[in-house]
Amino acid sequence: MKKVRKAVIPAAGLGTRVLPATKAMPKEMLPIVDKPAIQLIVEEAVRSGIEDILIITNRGKGVLEDHFDRAPELEERLLKSGKQEMYDEIVGLTKLANIQYVRQKETKGLGHAVYCAKAFVGDEPFAVLYGDDVILGEDPACGQLIRAYESEGLGVVGVNEVTPEAILKYSSLKVSPIEGAPENWMRCTDMIEKPAPDKILSLYSILGRCVLPPEIFAILEETPPGAGGEIQLTDAMCALARRDSMVAVNFTGKRYDMGSKLGIMQAQVEVALRHPEIGDAFRAYLKALSETL
Ligand code: UTP
Repeated sequence: MKKVRKAVIPAAGLGTRVLPATKAMPKEMLPIVDKPAIQLIVEEAVRSGIEDILIITNRGKGVLEDHFDRAPELEERLLKSGKQEMYDEIVGLTKLANIQYVRQKETKGLGHAVYCAKAFVGDEPFAVLYGDDVILGEDPACGQLIRAYESEGLGVVGVNEVTPEAILKYSSLKVSPIEGAPENWMRCTDMIEKPAPDKILSLYSILGRCVLPPEIFAILEETPPGAGGEIQLTDAMCALARRDSMVAVNFTGKRYDMGSKLGIMQAQVEVALRHPEIGDAFRAYLKALSETL
């Protein structure tokens, strides 16, 4: 069984749900207090044992590359003003992993974005971390999926239960227990993207993480445009689940949808409350504010 060493982070979407903020700035660069979403996602991948990362970008996303690059003027200023700790953090950021970039020339959907990683992935299994889904927790979500892949040898999707209202906007999975496996691992044999109410398979939905075998590229080649006229990764994974079955891991950790306004605010508030520098002051502010609501 090949180890999972590579990860792909698609970050070439248009982010229309958070316009105008995302007109000139990628949603993946939206900060959660003081770190952009993409940095938290790269950190999760690195904590999961990933060594090589490919970020799928597009026009106007050079700022993503700059974030993981050296910044000599800034570094010199930090050193001169004795801000050693911040200097270490800024330089450390450039050494997190071996990060490469490729452009998705047309915004043809998440499946198409993942297909852009074909040459990078080669003949290895790989993780996909959606660039607008931040998952925070002790045990990195991507690592939880990798453990399932390396044990079962099947493609893995990260899932959580969502509400009956939310499932209509996400994917819905057909799942069953796996004997002798951890309680939060399930067999997945079918899935549907944005189901009509009478087509819901369960309230388990894929939320931003999967580990896929390289065979997914041959399936993507055959996948026609689906919902919204885009090539959907879920459609390709559905073909894989029906053919070989997949594993669904009900991961631990809190997921924030950085592609939605509410998700961005939830992430900001919850991370700010735990933040070592501003946590106490923010809590006091929030308490006082809540009394006026
Ligand atoms: P989304 O569908 O949530 O992103 O894709 P979007 O298209 O930017 O969303 P809207 O416009 O607000 O509805 C999930 C992830 O896949 C990437 C996005 O950047 C996001 O991180 N993506 C999506 C691509 O890389 N390429 C695409 O063609 C579509």
